Amino acid sequence: MARKKIVAGNWKMNKTSIEAKQLVSELIPLVEGADVDVVVCTPFTALCTAAEALAGTPIAVGAQNLHFEEKGAFTGEISADMLLALGVKYVIIGHSERRQYFAETDETVNKKIKTALAKGLVPIVCCGESLEQRELGVTSELVRSQIKIAFSGVTAEQMRGIVIAYEPIWAIGTGKTATAEQANEVCAVIRSVIGELYGAAVADVIRIQYGGSMNAANAAELMAQPDIDGGLIGGASLKAEDFSKIVRYKG
Ligand code: PGA
Repeated sequence: MARKKIVAGNWKMNKTSIEAKQLVSELIPLVEGADVDVVVCTPFTALCTAAEALAGTPIAVGAQNLHFEEKGAFTGEISADMLLALGVKYVIIGHSERRQYFAETDETVNKKIKTALAKGLVPIVCCGESLEQRELGVTSELVRSQIKIAFSGVTAEQMRGIVIAYEPIWAIGTGKTATAEQANEVCAVIRSVIGELYGAAVADVIRIQYGGSMNAANAAELMAQPDIDGGLIGGASLKAEDFSKIVRYKG
């Protein structure tokens, strides 16, 4: 079946709220009429202005993290309700930078996914191997285990709306893109694990993005792969024109 592609920008720690307003204003006309779902995942501090500027447009707003607890004494953290109150629809969970620098684990990723789902946010769940793991030949096992732990306790019905982003760590921000075949191979592994856990019908509808140095020049080839349903875009999402070219990858 045809899955609608989804292209999400992960701005990381870039753009003030004023800069965000400028960027999304430029983006709106450039992606008008695109036949893919478009999301911008801004820093927390820009969510409000981005959501206001994008209200009534097809571009959705996402956050880059959330806390799994509902509320309370968690200094510096942001809850699902806080995001929802701003009009946020998506949330990136388990990005490799959060795993590397902020001690996120498959277990905290699992808790965050469950909270996001319970609250009605759509998780964009990241997984992927390091260069060392790829060279050791453990990519498939690693990604399989990341997926199994991340989604433990998540129901088949909840799974249907989830987005997964396969992001080889060695390709993030390095300019080294996985080849289309390498990317598709791992996306297919992810889809097959979902099939084992939830059945073929769920595996067939779930959307799996590739992320890691995706840009206007390589997007079409990556998106043409049978198991790649979109992209999670870092660097190339910071300029409206670059990002819109990925959204309009068909030319
Ligand atoms: P990149 O980042 O496109 O800059 O490689 C992707 C990501 O980290 O989501």
